[in-house]
Amino acid sequence: MPATVVLGTQWGDEGKGKAVDYLADRMDFVVRYQGGNNAGHTIIAEGRLLKLNLVPSGVLYPHITNVIADGVVVDPRILLGELDELEASDVQIGELRLSLNAHLIMPYHRELDKVAERFLGKNALNTTRRGIGPAYADRAARVGIRVQDLYDEKIFSAKLEVALKDKNQILAKIYNRLAMQPEQIFEDYLAFAERLRPYVTDTSKLLYEGLAAGKHVMLEGAQGTMLDLDHGTYPFVTSSTPVAGYAAASAGFGPRDIERVIGVTKAYVTRVGSGPLPTEDIGPAGERLGERGHEFGTVTGRKRRCGWFDACVLRFAARVNGLTDIVLTKLDVLSGFEKLPVCVGYRAGGQTWDDVPPNQTLFHEAEPVWEELPGWQDEIREVESFDDLPKEAQRYVRFLEEIGGVPVSIVGVGPVREQSLVAS
Ligand code: IMP
Repeated sequence: MPATVVLGTQWGDEGKGKAVDYLADRMDFVVRYQGGNNAGHTIIAEGRLLKLNLVPSGVLYPHITNVIADGVVVDPRILLGELDELEASDVQIGELRLSLNAHLIMPYHRELDKVAERFLGKNALNTTRRGIGPAYADRAARVGIRVQDLYDEKIFSAKLEVALKDKNQILAKIYNRLAMQPEQIFEDYLAFAERLRPYVTDTSKLLYEGLAAGKHVMLEGAQGTMLDLDHGTYPFVTSSTPVAGYAAASAGFGPRDIERVIGVTKAYVTRVGSGPLPTEDIGPAGERLGERGHEFGTVTGRKRRCGWFDACVLRFAARVNGLTDIVLTKLDVLSGFEKLPVCVGYRAGGQTWDDVPPNQTLFHEAEPVWEELPGWQDEIREVESFDDLPKEAQRYVRFLEEIGGVPVSIVGVGPVREQSLVAS
């Protein structure tokens, strides 16, 4: 049975949690394939509001096995906290499986993320300060600690010692911080390991066997295409690979199993942190988008920068991910605007672009080429079918579809699972 990838086409916060949750009842597995607790999913289902950082979005379905795959960096304290919260809220959850190969976020990663950002001053990336970048850096430098290491005390102790030797020099000599002691970390992480033991699995094999047995697998991306380490607005990116090509690599099966790649696209754009956002609106309209869309970060509470729909970004995301269809979210936020500007191209470096320019300097100076569509006044949150949307709203959706070159399959008109209209 084929696998489906669901990922963000913008700068994260497209509403992927709700999209995955909506699509999940037909799935047997939901797999988180990158990032860590820098992501935040808000799901409202059956009257319950859940804020998740690490646990995959299929968790509200008892029939789903939720997998945290190899390419995720896991802060065990956060994961266990989330599981405690789910248990306390009486939510019936699906099974959870954690890959033996996932890397751990250690206390020194969190500390280094904080102090490095502080030292960068006005050049700061505005990371979530959760230790994501330093954990991925250690993974690439081959000094990371993986989930499986916790179950061999000798190995864990040796690896921790190696890592701390280096990290303590950096913390003390570069950042003027206190060195960290291995004993406490060792003890804490062994206690986490005991609690995590029932979840730890060879998830690659589990998924392979699932696919072979005809099960449906959904691979859930965090962040978004424009925050991808290679394809995003480097260096204003996260340290992992949200694009679709990485999903199978992280999950540990071959790419031929992936048949559908769904791009979750917000009806406007937002970004948290630094970096270019060509269609940003810093005036009252942008303010209004932020208020209507409740654009505050789930993880850090930071106000998101808001702007108008950017078709260059959508075309780029369609190209680098091979999108098969789009879930368009938060269309309801656009009600009440007289006109809706859409960026249909950029001007940069003396030429026009219909896609993201290949050179970062050009992207930084990109000026949108606008096309204006008529808005609609009525609220649309109660609308139950696509054909009942105001004709201007239908036109807006069809315009994005045409200009992005990818069909829209579902349109979100509110935060609740049921506020999802089938568009094709
Ligand atoms: P990091 O992922 O914490 O290293 O942060 C790097 C950049 O990615 C910062 O600009 C963050 O604001 C951004 N970022 C990380 N995770 C998310 C997310 O889930 N949504 C939106 N932006 C994110």
